[in-house]
Amino acid sequence: MKVVIIGGAGGIGSSAAFNLLAAEGTYEVVLVDTRPNMITSHTMDLENAAALGRTSTTVRGGTVDDALDADVVVLSAAVPLRLNSSRLVFLADNARIVDEVLAPLAGSSFAGVVLMLTNPVDPLLTHVHRQGWIPRHRLVGYTLNDSLRLRTGIALALNRHPRDVDAWMLGEHGDHQVPLYSSVSAGGYPVTLTAGQRAAAQSYVDTWYQRHVALDSGRTSTWTTGLGAARMVEAMATESGAVMPASVVLDGEYGVSGVSLSVPVVLGRKGVARIEEWDLIDDEREGMTRAAARVEETLAELHQA
Ligand code: 2OP
Repeated sequence: MKVVIIGGAGGIGSSAAFNLLAAEGTYEVVLVDTRPNMITSHTMDLENAAALGRTSTTVRGGTVDDALDADVVVLSAAVPLRLNSSRLVFLADNARIVDEVLAPLAGSSFAGVVLMLTNPVDPLLTHVHRQGWIPRHRLVGYTLNDSLRLRTGIALALNRHPRDVDAWMLGEHGDHQVPLYSSVSAGGYPVTLTAGQRAAAQSYVDTWYQRHVALDSGRTSTWTTGLGAARMVEAMATESGAVMPASVVLDGEYGVSGVSLSVPVVLGRKGVARIEEWDLIDDEREGMTRAAARVEETLAELHQA
């Protein structure tokens, strides 16, 4: 499978490449970026790591033209991070970058999947889908970290390892997240959190982004997102049937139409093979409606600017 990572010199793009190199499948990974020396630095390093790989995966530098016959384009290009209070502050600048990067694919023979890592992912995916050149099943947004944070927050509250917890965050990758507390499990058994446990978990997820940005470290969630993105690519490549959260333009699912939000999906080689339609309780369903409205408002603000 050919995977072209646009923004491949950055922390997240290079982490995704590293995690694909360490994965079980065989990939042709191409790093594309506007910083050629950084690409060369990463590829010189990763071609040595390849000798420890489990498969014959390769990582090389390339150009946007490589994306034309890619199976998956991982898009992580973005403006440099700065102190901020919300991912939404990057919308106008990152929309310009996304438009510029994807322009050669629109109207071309490109038949692959775009896995969007650039933020704010839900408005950006909705914006790309409205350009009309790519069907919704080939546009996948990376939002797994929200569910991982919910699992971590619950695990801390329950004094368990995060891997023991199953919990899902749907909705917007931002302030309008929708945590599914009605279907949490730990160690394979359903769990109803106490009010205190739930408050602690919610505080963990609500404050994670601000706490991390406040460090002003110049880096983002490179380890988690790189690993998570590689797992999503693996799920596409192997058609494993695993259900994962991803932002997808909805067409009536969860009562939302024409807006990309995080929902449970099954991925395949052509992108979203299926959207799982779970029964949500009223609060959760209303949360999805509010999240969709927020994404619409955000896009209206972008177009007015
Ligand atoms: C994340 O939530 C920064 O959106 C990125 O990890």
